[in-house]
Amino acid sequence: MSLSEQTIQVVKATAPVLAEHGETITQHFYQHMFSQNPELLNIFNATNQKTGRQQAALANAVYAYAANIDNLGVLTTAVQRIAHKHASFNILPEQYPIVGKHLLEAVAHVLGYAATDEILNAWKEAYDFLAALFIEVEEGIYRESERAEGGWRGTREFRVANKIQESELITSFYFEPVNGLPISDYQPGQYIGIYLYPKHSEHRCIRQYSLSDAPNGKYYRISVKREGEGETRGMISHHLHDEVQIGDMVELCPPTGDFYLNTRSDTPIVLLSGGVGQTPMLSMLNSLVTQGHQKPIIFVHSATNGRVHAFKQHVKEMTDKHEHAEQILFYDAPTEVCSGHHYEGRTDLELIRKKIDLPGAHYYFCGPLGYMAMVKKSLQSWGVTEDRLHYEVFGPHKDI
Ligand SMILES: Cc1cc2nc3c(=O)[nH]c(=O)nc-3n(C[C@H](O)[C@H](O)[C@H](O)COP(=O)(O)OP(=O)(O)OC[C@H]3O[C@@H](n4cnc5c(N)ncnc54)[C@H](O)[C@@H]3O)c2cc1C
Ligand code: HEM
Repeated sequence: MSLSEQTIQVVKATAPVLAEHGETITQHFYQHMFSQNPELLNIFNATNQKTGRQQAALANAVYAYAANIDNLGVLTTAVQRIAHKHASFNILPEQYPIVGKHLLEAVAHVLGYAATDEILNAWKEAYDFLAALFIEVEEGIYRESERAEGGWRGTREFRVANKIQESELITSFYFEPVNGLPISDYQPGQYIGIYLYPKHSEHRCIRQYSLSDAPNGKYYRISVKREGEGETRGMISHHLHDEVQIGDMVELCPPTGDFYLNTRSDTPIVLLSGGVGQTPMLSMLNSLVTQGHQKPIIFVHSATNGRVHAFKQHVKEMTDKHEHAEQILFYDAPTEVCSGHHYEGRTDLELIRKKIDLPGAHYYFCGPLGYMAMVKKSLQSWGVTEDRLHYEVFGPHKDI
């Protein structure tokens, strides 16, 4: 199937209007969709709706699609990222027409008289085309997860086999399959979708957590930061910390995600993280050290202080095991009892440039958006090319 020339022209011509009204359209869209299809509240994150993060992510995606409709190749990376995210929610083909109907109604509503039949027909055709693409890519992901040894499709029951406090803010959960059968491996850096039913929520909640250990065939481990307090109290992170105990059951979607270690063993690797952003880096570090990576592995981590800093001793032990591995620590605001960190104050990569600006190195980073923007800017200013920069956003995606 391909799009007609007329559709391409109309969609491209209306792209600037969408950019202008993008978030208004998506806000209207979500309001109407949830009032008419309330079952979808069991899938979407209510907080991301409240804060507008999801509306912004969808508006940007729709605009990028419209603007590039005559050159869809440039969207391949974004389509892969969104499809992996969708897979962690187990999004199904039959849900696409529901979203399409509400999205078109929202476009019609916000554009008012400007929304002619020609424009709406073109957008319908374009939406169906994009939906078919996502459905195909997502089916590929589901099939791959199902066919992997120990793999499955949809959700699977796991038991909390262990719960370990790693710092004042971060706690790890170990999940083992209830049926005792093998579990599939994953790429270090990938995440799982966890499905929970907190007693104080009317709806089921789904969240993503990066796997924080190397694949091991026995358990999946996640490490969760308690997010926010008072008005900004994070629903599921608090639920996991306070309510979920050893022996409890949870449902998990298979590991997924397009952010993972994907480099040759003769490449230097620099893993940079801020706060709980270290979880995918731990999986990568553990895998690289276990596999005997031949080149330097530099683990750069920034934390507020030693009280909230998790896995310090573990990372030391792993880096000690490897001839060319090193841990470098920045503490923003160390207390008088903090020790073992290398730098105090805001992270400044210039201070460690000699150690991390390595020929051909690949850089994996994760942390708050401001931290990642700083990392990207510093690395780019040293001439590190785009193909060597890899990052993950712990929330609705945002370009940094
Ligand atoms: C790919 C991926 C991997 C991830 N990996 C990890 C991981 O390894 N470890 C980890 O801890 N997290 C990880 N996350 C984040 C995790 O999925 C959750 O988003 C996080 O635990 C917060 O969920 P919550 O239900 O507690 O907060 P939510 O209730 O969903 O709130 C989301 C955020 O908004 C804030 N908030 C709540 N209410 C308001 C308000 N009214 N105004 C402004 N802000 C508000 C909360 O403090 C929180 O920071 C990952 C996310 C993604 C997408
Ligand atoms: C062509 C149609 C669609 C487009 C363009 C689209 C786009 C997006 C984008 C850009 C994101 C954010 C991804 C990220 O964080 O990286 C997203 C997330 C999501 N999408 Fe879609 N989507 C589509 C269809 C659907 C459908 C049919 C459903 C199912 C009802 C769905 C459910 C979700 C959910 C639950 C999330 C995560 C929301 C959150 O984290 O709050 N999407 N989608």
